[in-house]
Amino acid sequence: MIDEPRGRRARPWTLLAAVALAGAAAAAMTAHAQEGVQGDDTIFGGSIEAGREKSATCAACHGIDGNSVNPLWPSLAGQHPGYIYNQLQAYKNGERQDPGMVGFAQSMSDQDMRDVAAYFSSQTLTPKGADPELVQLGEDIYRAGVPERGIPACIACHGPAGNGNYLASYPRIAGQHAAYMLNTMREYAAGTRRSDAKYNQMMRNIASQLLEDELRAVVNYAQGLQRQ
Ligand code: HEC
Ligand code: HEC
Repeated sequence: MIDEPRGRRARPWTLLAAVALAGAAAAAMTAHAQEGVQGDDTIFGGSIEAGREKSATCAACHGIDGNSVNPLWPSLAGQHPGYIYNQLQAYKNGERQDPGMVGFAQSMSDQDMRDVAAYFSSQTLTPKGADPELVQLGEDIYRAGVPERGIPACIACHGPAGNGNYLASYPRIAGQHAAYMLNTMREYAAGTRRSDAKYNQMMRNIASQLLEDELRAVVNYAQGLQRQ
């Protein structure tokens, strides 16, 4: 029941209720299985239980357990809390643009952001596959960059398994929706996403140098990575 609806991404809304129910059951079993959660319900200054309640309005799009069913909406399950927090601040301060998310972020206090970050980071992401035809090019770029154009390897910051870096708040990208990642890479390339300001504009520099077919391949590869 959990796998079948996610395979049919074309009609996410009709399946939302079924996935939400499955997600609730899965969340109960896996809430404490992630790194950073060791019987203590506070992470990154946020309370998992308070975040669970505050995330009710987020569930319609991001999934009750942080697994979104529309590939254009990012999953938040298992994402590093510092990264989630930074992005909510970025919507609030104008470094990211999405009108809906800007509205949510503006209505949230600092503590609200920490609580929802704690909750979603404690959830477990559902692994996804990759389009086999794009994997080779995607893997080459992910692991080696494009040396002749000075583009660094993704692995340097996002890690061999796509887990990012918890302490540095580099996002996990393994298992994230490729369609969402393609959109956000285009936003970095266009300069409309500026949330990497504190990281020397690294993602804007990288995304603006990658060609469209390279972007598609590398985000497809990242979607297929299995978080560890
Ligand atoms: C109506 C649908 C919708 C709702 C409800 C919603 N979001 Fe979002 N969220 C989105 C979309 C779409 C994006 C991607 C927007 C973009 O490209 O910047 C997003 C992006 C995000 C991101 C950035 C993720 C990343 O990987 O960078 C975070 C964090 C986030 N939302 C948290 C929340 C929280 C917390 C709530 C509830 C308070 C919420 N969202 C409610 C649709 C929604
Ligand atoms: C020098 C470190 C570094 C390198 C190299 C790097 N990234 Fe990133 N990446 C980051 C950081 C830091 C962020 C978060 C920036 C922010 O807050 O907007 C990020 C964000 C992202 C995001 C947005 C995730 C989300 O949920 O919205 C994607 C997708 C991404 N990187 C893909 C890649 C790919 C693909 C490559 C290789 C072509 C790459 N990155 C190389 C550090 C790096």
